[in-house]
Amino acid sequence: MSYTMNAAEFNEKIMKGHFRKIYPVIAAQIVERTGVTSGRCIDLGGGPGMLGVCLAKITSLDVTVVDLMPECVELARENSAEAGVADRVDAVQGVAEELPFENGVIDLVVSRGSIFFWQDQERGLAEVWRVLRPGGWAWIGGGFGTAELLHEIEAAKADDPEWNRKRKERMTQNPPEHFRAMLQRLGIDGVVEHQEAGMWIIFQKPKEAQA
Ligand SMILES: C[S@@+](CC[C@H](N)C(=O)[O-])C[C@H]1O[C@@H](n2cnc3c(N)ncnc32)[C@H](O)[C@@H]1O
Repeated sequence: MSYTMNAAEFNEKIMKGHFRKIYPVIAAQIVERTGVTSGRCIDLGGGPGMLGVCLAKITSLDVTVVDLMPECVELARENSAEAGVADRVDAVQGVAEELPFENGVIDLVVSRGSIFFWQDQERGLAEVWRVLRPGGWAWIGGGFGTAELLHEIEAAKADDPEWNRKRKERMTQNPPEHFRAMLQRLGIDGVVEHQEAGMWIIFQKPKEAQA
């Protein structure tokens, strides 16, 4: 499935719209669970970069937003400057399937709402594994932080039934078992957690693994 949303529409929806509240909540959940607060982070398929920006605000991570759309690279840079973290959040154009990073150099890869659109999800996850340093974490999937925030967004989107239909269709096409099988094929020891608020693939590259 390819991704075709217009970047300005994105920024409007994400920055100024109902999604704004979810990013700090998700960022806090990631930091609490992984304990990663320093080093290098990728916000993969980060769009306007809000998850990366929120992570930078509560940690000392250096974040690179990676997105296939050049317009998103621009928006992510604007948003990081606006949030006062431009010195630690940059953006580059790139795809999950061929990450522009060396092996074993990244402490945390986060990705929200993007894997469902990757041309080759398995290759993208293998790339995430490749760039993680031993002991590094990945948090990849989709979600809204809490069920309450999801309900708020659903209510705000009541006049847009297509949004909910497409969201549910993506979940049906990408059930947790699909990603569990993928992790198994890749030899990655991880979990796929599915709750009302979202679905996340979470793994840590073993500390003793080769970079
Ligand atoms: C629904 S948006 C989510 C944006 C952002 N992560 C957020 O939660 O606000 C999906 C993003 O994934 C990007 N994308 C889709 N396929 C990609 C790929 N193979 N590699 C990198 N980015 C990709 C799209 O350009 C888009 O910006």
